Amino acid sequence: MGFLQVHLLFWVLLPAFLRAWPRQMETPKLLPCWKTWISVSCRGRGLTTFPQGLSYEIKRIDLSHNAISNLTDYDTSALEQLEQLDLSYNHLRSLSGGALGHLAHLRSLILAGNQLHQDHFSNGNAFLSLVSLAALDVSANGLDNQMVASYLHHLPVLEWLDLSGNHLTCLANGIFQGVPRLRELHLRRNSLVEIEEGALSQLRALEVLDLSMNSLHCITGFGLAQLRVLNLSYNALESFDGAGEEAPCHLHILDLSHNQLNALPLLPRRNRLRYLNLSHNAITTATNESQNVTPQNVSQSFAKLMDLNLSRNRLGSFPVALLHGLASLRALSLARNCLSDFAVELPTNHSSPGPIADRAWQKQTSLSVRMLDLQGNSISHLPPRFLDLLPDLEVMDLGLNRIQLCQARNSSKGECLHAKTEDCTTFHCLPHLRHLSLRGNNLRLVHGCLFHQTPLASLDLSENQGLVLPSYALEGLEASLQELSLRGNRMKTASLNFPCLVSLSILDMSGNDLSAIPPSLLCSPLEKLDIQGNQLESIEEAAAKQLRRSLRALSVAGNPFSCCERKWLQILGTSVLDLGETLCYYRNGDESFTTQISGKQAGQLCPRNAYKVYLAVTAFLVCTVGLLCASVRWFLKRAKTCMPLCLGSLRNKVEPAPSPSKEANSTIL
Ligand SMILES: *[C@@H]1O[C@H](CO)[C@@H](O)[C@H](O)[C@H]1NC(C)=O
Ligand SMILES: *[C@@H]1O[C@H](CO)[C@@H](O)[C@H](O)[C@H]1NC(C)=O
Ligand SMILES: *[C@@H]1O[C@H](CO)[C@@H](O)[C@H](O)[C@H]1NC(C)=O
Ligand SMILES: *[C@@H]1O[C@H](CO)[C@@H](O)[C@H](O)[C@H]1NC(C)=O
Ligand SMILES: *[C@@H]1O[C@H](CO)[C@@H](O)[C@H](O)[C@H]1NC(C)=O
Ligand SMILES: *[C@@H]1O[C@H](CO)[C@@H](O)[C@H](O)[C@H]1NC(C)=O
Ligand SMILES: *[C@@H]1O[C@H](CO)[C@@H](O)[C@H](O)[C@H]1NC(C)=O
Ligand SMILES: *[C@@H]1O[C@H](CO)[C@@H](O)[C@H](O)[C@H]1NC(C)=O
Repeated sequence: MGFLQVHLLFWVLLPAFLRAWPRQMETPKLLPCWKTWISVSCRGRGLTTFPQGLSYEIKRIDLSHNAISNLTDYDTSALEQLEQLDLSYNHLRSLSGGALGHLAHLRSLILAGNQLHQDHFSNGNAFLSLVSLAALDVSANGLDNQMVASYLHHLPVLEWLDLSGNHLTCLANGIFQGVPRLRELHLRRNSLVEIEEGALSQLRALEVLDLSMNSLHCITGFGLAQLRVLNLSYNALESFDGAGEEAPCHLHILDLSHNQLNALPLLPRRNRLRYLNLSHNAITTATNESQNVTPQNVSQSFAKLMDLNLSRNRLGSFPVALLHGLASLRALSLARNCLSDFAVELPTNHSSPGPIADRAWQKQTSLSVRMLDLQGNSISHLPPRFLDLLPDLEVMDLGLNRIQLCQARNSSKGECLHAKTEDCTTFHCLPHLRHLSLRGNNLRLVHGCLFHQTPLASLDLSENQGLVLPSYALEGLEASLQELSLRGNRMKTASLNFPCLVSLSILDMSGNDLSAIPPSLLCSPLEKLDIQGNQLESIEEAAAKQLRRSLRALSVAGNPFSCCERKWLQILGTSVLDLGETLCYYRNGDESFTTQISGKQAGQLCPRNAYKVYLAVTAFLVCTVGLLCASVRWFLKRAKTCMPLCLGSLRNKVEPAPSPSKEANSTIL
């Protein structure tokens, strides 16, 4: 074929080729929508228009995360049965006047993350037909005060409304006139600075109001007696005063965390508040008498409180006077305040002043708290009379303080005589205390008798560098202790001794300097053991076998394990969680390497194995040479006896044979 023909052929075939090309290179076909009889999901399918040809029976459509920008009458005209439409995270900006008009049964409309701030007047008209709508989400649509109003003209049965993440600055009086049945209103992450008087009072059914992450400075009575949950966290509140409300208040949960309150909130006198979150504020005292608020006033208004979170405030003393009136209080957090001393001011019995000796009176003044979080203060001692106030205590967190532990008295005789001193702390005889944390208290030596007659199930002694734990330290906990943490204490094997803890099943000993598993531990039915970051080169075979009986989860990475002593791994291998991250080391004079402990390489160079290889190779060589020589001798013998005729001609060629035969003899011998 000449050049011309080729050239011609090229031009003739090109169009056909080009026609075929795009078909091959077609963008990967969009996944079809996922359909059932009554629902369709086209989530994230790259759609730019509303899908056509949907069946009349469809009740739910999920079109979220596409690029649909408008909705027309035509799109929805066949969907009369539709109950739920999710168009969140599209580019929706225009809804034609009748686009929602066919949807007589629509109950839930999710339009979060669109651009409904555009064309809000005409879009608002489309909403006028939503007379059955119960739930509407128009969060993150760039809506300001006026735009919101145009969408909420007439939604007579709307119960749930999400307006979060918009640009609302003020809730004007009347803004919620069109949604009188609202029960749940979410206004999180707007820029609200003001709520006009009466803006919310039309919402007579409102139960949940989320105003978190706004810029509100003050809240005075809402007149929202039926509200059950009010979230005002992450605002700029300096006070909260609801004391003026006379009507019974149904508030159950009040979240005032992350504000700038400097005093406890004043609640309506008749309230049912159970959860109050006041963390991250600037409260310095529980009551301020100069404001004519006595502890009794506050106690009265918190009478039903179960959970009070005062963490991250500036309280300088434990508010006993306040707390003793809170008969329902179960959980109290005073974490990260400025508590340093417990010069506990007990409520005084004015008719018999002086220290409290009377048990009955003490019972009356005791607190009902079961969970007490005191971590991150500067507490150095909890006097016995403070702990006497908390007879029901089950969980106590004293982490990150400066607790001074008491020294045992006469513990060697097996008795615990407790000096009731005020300058040290002991945890004995707390009949219900089950969980205690003493993490990060700079503890050095744990003396005996500290936990005598206290049924601790879990104890956290982590992050106390250089801690010494003699066997008598945990005396009294033999039967009850189930979980113990000694993490990050840099303890040596010698400074760690356990009594026989027959219930211990979870133990964290990571971040210490142990070179062996303490034998006293083998008494315990350990199920979960963490020994990461210690100095273990191996685990003794006997210990491994003992552990295997109960162990299910073992973490071992970060130890200088020897590659050549891995017997323990065969025994415990299946329970090791972090095998992939666990390395082993091999050192021999100048030679050293590191490899994954479970890898093939580990063990190959180990001296014993190398010796074995050497032996095997030698044996193999000896045998081969021997065999070779034997066969040569045999062959020569045979040649002599069976083929004398050709001997003459052969002799010349085999001449040097006797000498290798001699060599062979000498090698074999
Ligand atoms: C709706 O969007 C589609 C696709 O972006 C566009 O072609 C069409 O013109 C739009 N219709 C209206 C009425 O805006
Ligand atoms: C209140 O809102 C914040 C932030 O939006 C949230 O983290 C918190 O869980 C909410 N509180 C309650 C009681 O729901
Ligand atoms: C405040 O406490 C409540 C209940 O105790 C909790 O649900 C809520 O998440 C807390 N708030 C924040 C901001 O964590
Ligand atoms: C107290 O509230 C803070 C958040 O505001 C939360 O992180 C902490 O867990 C809460 N503490 C308790 C004991 O509920
Ligand atoms: C008590 O309230 C008064 C008036 O609001 C204020 O000036 C004072 O600083 C408060 N005292 C304390 C200890 O918070
Ligand atoms: C506190 O209680 C006393 C009487 O018990 C009452 O006279 C006073 O008005 C109360 N203060 C407030 C702020 O409610
Ligand atoms: C105060 O003490 C007296 C004498 O011990 C006692 O009779 C009285 O009941 C106590 N008052 C209260 C409120 O317990
Ligand atoms: C130990 O017990 C003996 C008698 O039982 C007593 O005399 C002694 O004071 C006690 N020691 C301490 C430190 O309590």
